[in-house]
Order: sequence, then C-alpha cells, then structure tokens
Amino acid sequence: MAGSRPVPRPASRAVLAPGVPTRVLAARVLAQVIGRGRSLKGELTTALPQLDDARDRALLEALCFAVLRRRAAYDAALAGWMQRPLGARDAELRALLQVGFAQLDALELPAHAALSATVDAARALGFERQAGMVNALLRRAQRDGFADQPARAAFPNWLAKKIELDWPEQAAAVFEASLQPAPLWLRVNGQQTDRGTVLTQLQGAGIAAEPSALAADAVCLPQPVPVASLPGFAQGALSVQDLSAQQVADALSLRKGARVLDACAAPGGKSAHLLERDPTLQLLALDIDARRLKRIGETFARTGVGANAQVRAADASAPDSWWDGQPFDAILLDAPCSATGIIRRQPDVLLHRRPADVEALVALQARLLDACFGVLAPGGTMLYATCSILREENQFQIEAFLQRTPRAGFLPLDERFGHDCWAGRQRLPGENGADGFFYARLLRKG
Ligand SMILES: C[S@@+](CC[C@H](N)C(=O)[O-])C[C@H]1O[C@@H](n2cnc3c(N)ncnc32)[C@H](O)[C@@H]1O
Repeated sequence: MAGSRPVPRPASRAVLAPGVPTRVLAARVLAQVIGRGRSLKGELTTALPQLDDARDRALLEALCFAVLRRRAAYDAALAGWMQRPLGARDAELRALLQVGFAQLDALELPAHAALSATVDAARALGFERQAGMVNALLRRAQRDGFADQPARAAFPNWLAKKIELDWPEQAAAVFEASLQPAPLWLRVNGQQTDRGTVLTQLQGAGIAAEPSALAADAVCLPQPVPVASLPGFAQGALSVQDLSAQQVADALSLRKGARVLDACAAPGGKSAHLLERDPTLQLLALDIDARRLKRIGETFARTGVGANAQVRAADASAPDSWWDGQPFDAILLDAPCSATGIIRRQPDVLLHRRPADVEALVALQARLLDACFGVLAPGGTMLYATCSILREENQFQIEAFLQRTPRAGFLPLDERFGHDCWAGRQRLPGENGADGFFYARLLRKG
C-alpha cells in the first residue's frame, strides 16, 4: 500500500522542501491505483494521515482525482513526447509525471513551484537519474499544453457503450459530469440543530452554502472545505452525504417507531439519517463486511443516534442466519452495485470495473431483493436503491423482480427523484448537482 512506506528523505537534505512529500505520496498512491488495481479510497486512507497540514492533504486528494480524470490526455501526451515508452516497472515515475502534468493543467498551480517540487519528488522517489527528463517533460507540458480528449475517452469502451445504449440522449452529459469535481453535500442532523441555523452559521464563517429544494436536510457547498472546519461537524450536527443518498429517507417515509431493516448498511450514512429523523425507529442494520460494519458504530457515535439500533454482521441474502421471524414494516436495500453513478467521487471505477463484475452484481442484487422481500410484512414497503446508472442493475432488475414476485407491487416516486423508469426513478450524475442514483419503492401486497 502507498501509505505503508514512509516518505523518503534524500541523503543530501535533512528535510524535504515544502510540497515534495505531497507529490511523492500522490505518485505512490496513483502507481498503486493505476498499476496494481488498488482502490483510491483505500490508498488515500493510508496516505493522508502522513501529511500534517490540511492544505497538503487537500492537494494530495486533488492531484489524485485530477490525474484519474485527465489520464487519457496525459497518457497521449507522454506517448507523443517520449522516444522510448515507459515500461510497466516505471509505474511510480509515470505517475509522478502525471502528477506534474495535473499541477500545470487541471489545478493550474504556479509553474515554478510545480516544477521544482515535482523534480525534487523524482529524486526523493529514487529517480535521481531521471530528474532531468522529468524537468524537460514538465517544461514541454508547460509550453505545449494538452490536447483535449472527449470525456468518453476516459471510460472503458464496454462501459461507454452500455451507457450510450441505456441513455442515448444523456450519455454525453453523463461522461462529462462524471469527470467533474462534485460539490460538498451536507446533511443536517435534526436531533441537534436545524437547516436555517446551520446556514446562518456557515454564512458567519464565510462559507458559501445553499439549501436544497429537493431534500429537507440537505445543504450544498459549491466549493468544498475540509469538513473538520465546519461548525458542529465533530459533534455530529452535520454529516457528509450526497443529495441523492439523502433522498432515500424521503422515498421511504416511515411511520413513527416502525420496525425497519437496513439490509446493506455500512458505513451507516442512511441508517443514521433515518434515526436522526426518528430516534424511536426499531432499526436492524446488517452488513456482510465486518470491517465496514465497525464504521456504522463510529457513524452512530458521532451523530449521537443509534442507541437502540441493532447492528449485525450478516448476509442479508440468507435470512435463516439472522432473522428472528418478525416481519419488518419497511426495508432499505441499498444494494452493492457498479458505482457507475458516482464516478466523479470514485474515478478509479473507470480503471477497476469489469463487465463480469456487473453480471455478478446483478445476480447478487436479485438474491438480495428476493430474500429481503421475504421478511417484509404485508403492506410494508421496501426501497431498492443503487448508485448505478445501468438499467440492468436498476429498471431491468426491478422489472424482473416484479415479474417473478406476484405479491409485489410498486409505489411510484415523483420527479424529485429523477427520470421515470416505470417502477423506479433514475437521477443521472450531475443532475441537481447530485450523484447518479436509482430508487424503486416496492410494496408487499396484503
Ligand atoms: C452501497 S453500500 C451501502 C451504503 C450504506 N447504505 C450507507 O448509506 O452508508 C453496499 C453495502 O452492501 C454490503 N453487502 C454486500 N453484499 C451483502 C450481503 N449479501 N448482505 C449484506 N450486506 C452486503 C457491502 O458490504 C456494502 O457495505
């Protein structure tokens, strides 16, 4: 993992110049993500704590995101500018060059600082002999710039084709929006404060913020800020959650004190939101991944909800192993999915997702739908949600479920939830400033 090696200190200097460790870490994170198939989130989780300054941490994230979004342009430039292509063994050197390009191109940092910190980072990474070449390539980038690539070029061809087939009119906008930085969406914890108070506090702190007309607890910060600096964040008055994810609570609209199952709950964002709305819910939060499950406890502790909730590591598709036989009034099935609606937040999806993953996910989602529906009370509702934009995981998945399940019906959702997909609704990435998301509200007939 990128973060497990400490940032090197070159023999010639006692301390690296400011900004050099950030470039070193960015190159290492990207080499792991691009070259070795590791997840960006996982690598950043280990790398970020190595930087003390919040501005350096923000720069590290910005560099990694910028490179993953603009990789097609940077690779094309390198192929044109280098006489001998870099080999697979040069993954860190290639990543460092891309980090250099991102500073000049996407982030538009002052060229002098970008060049000197990146050349120093090359030395710190052990590429002493290549430092001159790094310098020359960055100067070339500064002079020539990068040819614009169509946004589609950042997508693997199989995925671009699927999106074009599913959303012929919107595909170009989906490609574009998936490569844009996302705003910061906050959720206001109604147990601690209210949206008007939060907006006043943010205004007082000089932070631009807008309430959403689509979700009662949602506030949008067009320019993201470090969350720790937000008033009330540490106390759980605010949480980071995209508008689309927040709308799940509106789509479910639970009766007070209902018995609710959150079948795929980790890290607990939607469970916490439901409990912030109504702490008297009898909530069972399941997740198959025991490590991710720990984060539900952290989420509940920070937001101050969940004292009465049950949290269990279990396979929701096998109720025999966890169900006590009492049906649930409502179920949230926030299913594992291709994450194709949140590429702007997880650009490494473009690198890691394979067609076979989608097939396996579609089969798992179908098993989860059938199993969860079996523990739903007559008259109860089950919200099926994904952060995918592929119809096979969404509309077609629900159509097949309704066809094989005579006791199931659906309750339509209105246009606040996006494009009409018969039994469900789809928001595409960037629409309303939000992530791509699908919702279907299913009903168990009496
Ligand atoms: C989209 S995420 C859930 C996000 C969560 N609802 C939130 O708002 O914080 C999907 C989750 O499904 C879990 N999962 C996958 N297969 C599962 C299964 N068979 N049973 C229970 N959970 C499962 C994954 O571990 C993952 O945490």
